[in-house]
Parts: sequence; structure tokens; C-alpha cells
Amino acid sequence: MIDNFNFSRIPHIIFGIGKLNELYDIIPKFGNNVLYVIGGNSLKRSGKWDEITAAMESKSINYSSVSVNNEPSPNLVDEIAANFREKNIDLIIGIGGGSVTDAGKAISAMIPKNDSIKNYLEGVGTKTHDGKKIPYIAIPTTSGTGSEATKNAVISEIGSEGFKKSLRHDNFIPNIAIIDPELMIPCPASVTAACGMDAFTQLLEAYVSTKASPITDVLAYSGMKYLGKNLIPACSSGASDVNVRAAMAYGSLMSGICLANAGLGIVHGLASPIGGFFDIPHGVVCGTLLGEATKMNIKKLQEQGVAGKEGLRKYAVIRALLSGKEFNAEGKIEEYCSNLIDILDKWTKDLKIDRLGKYGIKTEDIEKLVKNAGLKNNPVNLVNKDIETIIGNRL
Ligand SMILES: [Fe+2]
Repeated sequence: MIDNFNFSRIPHIIFGIGKLNELYDIIPKFGNNVLYVIGGNSLKRSGKWDEITAAMESKSINYSSVSVNNEPSPNLVDEIAANFREKNIDLIIGIGGGSVTDAGKAISAMIPKNDSIKNYLEGVGTKTHDGKKIPYIAIPTTSGTGSEATKNAVISEIGSEGFKKSLRHDNFIPNIAIIDPELMIPCPASVTAACGMDAFTQLLEAYVSTKASPITDVLAYSGMKYLGKNLIPACSSGASDVNVRAAMAYGSLMSGICLANAGLGIVHGLASPIGGFFDIPHGVVCGTLLGEATKMNIKKLQEQGVAGKEGLRKYAVIRALLSGKEFNAEGKIEEYCSNLIDILDKWTKDLKIDRLGKYGIKTEDIEKLVKNAGLKNNPVNLVNKDIETIIGNRL
């Protein structure tokens, strides 16, 4: 039986080595006045920014650029949107990591509104965005958030009253996503590791989600197939191998499509308060919690008996996939689930993903974090004590 499901549109995807070059033929279809949203320095250091600006000049396309160095805050988005509101921007291009592609998405949505983004953020504001935006092209330079394929932009205000909340609308799915694995080669190992763990978490959480559909199951499985095989090489001997980077980029893209359509689980339900109260990269939160959260989910599914069987089967399928096999051993579900936890724990260790304590999170913070966490579409119900255990074991 197939349960009811929705599946949103996806961006026009242009995927492949050297595909960035197609950008300059696409831009004139939208107009001649472009705003680039870029990151700190890595694009400039790699020489890519010089290439882009030279191409823009040779094609006589007008452009401006703004830099986003951290996860975008409401003030940053408001300020940039205000500065460009009267500039007749035809197209916004976000080229960078997840923070940059999210910032570009939010700016494209807020330029048409003479208002603060805070009023439209889920759980913060009271207004509903109508989806009107400036056309947007997302070009990721890391393989992680999948923001190039999602309908939301994550906006962070960090501090004791902080939050990490989404601006969301189906229309905010980028018009076009250009995924060129060459752009990911300069990404350092620590960032590749954290982003890769984020993407894998998104795939696994979407795969076991209560909202998963046969479409998202196939896409998540496919994403985990490529990502699982290439995560460790991308952070070590294969860092300069464009085929390794392509596999990571593909996994990340699938993770965005899957999370937008199947939702996520407890790891991302905790990522919001942890990332809002503490200055800690999103990928580190996901990478550090994934093993413990999976362990807890498996334990609770086992306690459910028959009702938990399908969730456990799915976890076992992924363990088989990560070992390069098709799953066909129904009798080994328990053993496979236990092996999956071992694999995830080993990744966390081998990739040197930090523990939460390194970012100042202490035992006395756990209660507040649990209070502000959400289960999202976790495959099994967890009570506060379970969530406390997940965090406590990663301090
Ligand atoms: Fe994520």
C-alpha cells in the first residue's frame, strides 16, 4: 500500500564538471542586472571569482556582489534587501556554502517586501509570505545542506534568546541549481566532513521519516549510495578527485530534495535550538548527534515490537548499502541495525567531528535544549529523557 504523499517541484538541475560555464548563457534569459551573494574568501582564493567577474564583463552583464561570512541573521538579510530594493535586480545568484545559498534565497524573497524577514520566520513572526521573489540561481561550493534544492532558508540569531528558524515557501525552491563538482575541490577536509555528515543525516532522516514516500525512498537510497562510499575519501586521499566530489555533490542534492519532501528527524529537531543558543556549525551538530540519535531510534523501534519493524528494516537496508550489498537477510535485522550504529560512530571518529562540549555546551544546558527541540518526522516517538540521553552522550 502506498500512503498519500505530496512532492514539490524541484529546481532545474544542471549537474556536471565545468557546468558553471553555462551560467553566462542562462543569465540573459532573466535580465541584465545581477546580484551575486558570495561567501568570505574561498571563492576569491580559488581564482573562481576572478573567472566569474571576467565572464560577466566580457558578456557586458551588470552585476553587484555582497559577501556573507556566517549563517545569515535577520539583520543581515534585512540590510542587504534594503540596499538593493530600489536597484531593479533581475536575478540573484548565490554561490557558496549552505549559509550563502540560504542567504541568497532569503534576500531574493525579501527584496520585494518592504518589511523585516523576522515577521515571516516560522515560530518567530506572524505574517505569511506570498512567495513573490526575485528569480534565484543556487550554486553550491560545499556538499552539505542541500539548500540548492529546498524551499526554505535557515536564518539564525545566536545567543541566549537565539533561534534558528526557516523562511519557507514552495516558490523559494531555486529556479535553477548549478552543481559543478570542480567548485567543491578547494573545500577543506573539516568542512567537507561536517557538511557530508549533515547531508548523510538528511538522507537517513528523510529515508526513515514518517513522511517518506516511495519517491523519496528511492532518491534517499541513491544519495546514500554515492555519499556513503565517498565521504571518507572526500576528506582524505580523494579530496582533489573531481569524481569523488561529484558523488558528494549528488548526495547533497538528493538530501535537499528528500528533506523538502519527506521531512527530517530528531537530529534536525535538535539542530535548531543547539544552533540558535550556541555558535556551532550546523554540520558539526548533525555529525556529532547522528550515531547517538540512530542508536536511540533503533532502541525505541525495537521496544515497539511489530509497529517498529518497518523502521528497523529501513535502517538495516542502509547498513547493507553501506557495506556494498543489497539487503536480503530479513532474519538479520537486529545485527544489521547494530552494525549501522557502529559505522556511523566510526565515521564520527574518523572524521574528527567535535563533541558539543567543545562549543561550550554543558550538562545544565540540556534541559533548555530539550525543551526547545522538536521531533519533526522522527520514525518513533521520543520522550524528553531519551533526547537528554542523546545530547548527554555527545557533550
Ligand atoms: Fe541539515
